[in-house]
Parts: sequence; C-alpha cells; structure tokens
Amino acid sequence: MESIKINTEIKVYNNLNELPENFQQLLSSAEEAMHKAHAPYSNFKVGAAVLLDDGAIVQGNNQENASYPAGTCAESVALNYASAMNPNAKVVAIAIQTKHPTTPQEIPSMPCGICRQAILEYQHKGGQDIVILTRSEKGMIYMANSVNDILPFAFDKSAL
Ligand code: THU
Repeated sequence: MESIKINTEIKVYNNLNELPENFQQLLSSAEEAMHKAHAPYSNFKVGAAVLLDDGAIVQGNNQENASYPAGTCAESVALNYASAMNPNAKVVAIAIQTKHPTTPQEIPSMPCGICRQAILEYQHKGGQDIVILTRSEKGMIYMANSVNDILPFAFDKSAL
C-alpha cells in the first residue's frame, strides 16, 4: 500500500490593509457586486470579482431561481462572463464577499465544489495559478494562491 498526501495552505488576514492594493480593490469590487445579487430565496448574498491579466475586473453575483437548482453561484457567473467577454484573457485572481441574511459571519465562506471546479477550468485555460480571496462580513480574509490548494485530487482534462 502506498499513500499520496497533498499539503495545502490558506493565508489568513484580519485586515484588508495587509493585502496588496490590487487585491484590496478586487475585494471592494466583490462587495459592490454582492449588493446587486439576486438572492430572494436564500437571502444569502454573494459577490465575486475576477481580475484579468489586462487589469480588467469582471463582476458577478449569485442569481437564484424559483426552481432552486437552476440558480447560479456568484463565482461561476463572474468567471463564465469574463471568459465569454474576454476569451483570450487570463484570470489572475478571484475575490468573493458574502453576506449572511441574519448573522454576520466571522469566518469567510469558501467557494462551493462546483465553483472550485470552474476556477480550475480557467486556471488550466490561462496556464497560471488563480489566487482566491474570500472575505467574511466581519472582515477576516482567506487567501489561497492556487485552486490546487482548495481542490486537491481534482478531475481535469488529463483524465479525458
Ligand atoms: N453561493 C454562491 O454564490 N457561491 C458559493 O460558492 C456558494 C453558494 C450562493 C448560491 C445560493 O444562491 C446561495 O449562495 C446560498 O447557497
């Protein structure tokens, strides 16, 4: 028997000022997008902002549907929109801001499994690691330097 181990790392920041300015701006953009979320069913609002290698920022937010599974997460909206509008641009980073309907969260929310898979797709497409930043309502920030850190043992095109 052999085993395979993967080490992952998430950096934790308690203050926005500890981050480089472009990431501070990206988180602000995610917060702005969050306020425009269409989340009348869960009332859990999520905003995402994608930074492209040409400096452009593309926003997205969760778009819910009365038929619940038809809804789409903020990260996927932003990434799909960015790729649709700028097919040749590489994704450098994605920032996420969430807002719980009743109780402000201490700990940042992480992207769901489907969104991690979407980030992986665009990481492969761009050929460079995508930084993932996620910020709680109370201001704590998690940062992963690559989707590999939050989606180990992933399914990707090498299996096809
Ligand atoms: N949601 C996101 O937008 N991103 C995630 O990574 C997790 C969940 C949305 C989906 C739904 O509209 C609401 O949050 C509650 O699950």
